[in-house]
Amino acid sequence: MKKIGIVALGRYLPEKKLTNADIEKIVDTTDEWITTRTGIKERRIAADGELTSHLAIAAAKDALRNSPVKAEDIEAIFVATVTPDSAFPSMACLVQKELGATKAFAYDINAVCSGFLYAMTTAKQFIATGMIKNALVIAADRFTTLIDWKDRNTCVLFGDGAGAAVLGLVEHGGILSDFMIANGQGAPLMGVVPDKIRGPYDTTVDTAKLPYVVMNGQELFKHAVPGMAEAVNIAAQKAGITVHDLKCVVPHQANDRIIASVAKRAGIDKERFFINIDKYGNISAASVVVALCEAVEAGRIKKGDKIALVVFGAGLVAAANIIEWSY
Ligand code: ACO
Repeated sequence: MKKIGIVALGRYLPEKKLTNADIEKIVDTTDEWITTRTGIKERRIAADGELTSHLAIAAAKDALRNSPVKAEDIEAIFVATVTPDSAFPSMACLVQKELGATKAFAYDINAVCSGFLYAMTTAKQFIATGMIKNALVIAADRFTTLIDWKDRNTCVLFGDGAGAAVLGLVEHGGILSDFMIANGQGAPLMGVVPDKIRGPYDTTVDTAKLPYVVMNGQELFKHAVPGMAEAVNIAAQKAGITVHDLKCVVPHQANDRIIASVAKRAGIDKERFFINIDKYGNISAASVVVALCEAVEAGRIKKGDKIALVVFGAGLVAAANIIEWSY
């Protein structure tokens, strides 16, 4: 059996910071409420004209700078996003063009906040069958373009950004297990819902009235905690280890209280979770890969360590992977 792992990581966060103090001026909220209820202190906001493809390309270039596989040798590109620049062409094709990755096939994946792990596992399967030897997996979102900035229930939570990983064959370690699950019964809990669904040849839709995120935060919280705790336990079981063997857990960064509850429920010391939600808020699919990149840079993950990645998102969708770190 071939060993398949992450061989390089990269990220890109827009420069502009929006602090809790800035949001206090927009809606009826306080730094104290946001900090204690979510753990978020600030988030990044894409600049005017800075599109999701730009974020994705910048993160991809950062990963390739550190990668043993060069752009011209990349054989597949997957971009996890829910905020593509437009319905088509895909973000993956725009990345492929910009990188000059002419040997790659390319397409996008939508699994909202679980998108990076859904895309990584998809890429891994192509490598495992021998169809390709490597892949570039990116998660990028300008999530704040979907936000109603008058809704304090949602506007405090999200930010923009991108992360990327190069997958390839590895000598040591690699991805030890994969777990993905969906529960469409929970789909009504969060979504981007237009006031009116646009029909074919529909001339009556007010295109100026944009759809935005509608979310039942409390119910999502109740699903996210068992969903992530179970996902990490199942992935550990599939890898033939227990959660006590995990050096580090990198979770989706939606809410610090969700992470604390997942840690308790899964029986893992919270100290072993890598958390950067204070700096970026929830950046959708990019959260977990940006956090992974920073955990490796901070020395929290070293060669030979067994780690877990675990995510949860609207849909509902959850996923977890156990990885033995390869470099
Ligand atoms: N500032 C001040 N008060 C607020 C704010 C705010 N920004 N937002 C809500 N409140 C108020 C509410 O109006 C409510 O007031 P009331 O008691 O007078 O009615 C009170 O605070 C409590 O509201 P709750 O919704 O019960 O607050 P909760 O503790 O549940 O926290 C939160 C809300 C942060 C949204 C939490 O439920 C959560 O994180 N849920 C999960 C959300 C999530 O993970 N979403 C993404 C998943 S999928 C993906 O990542 C794409």
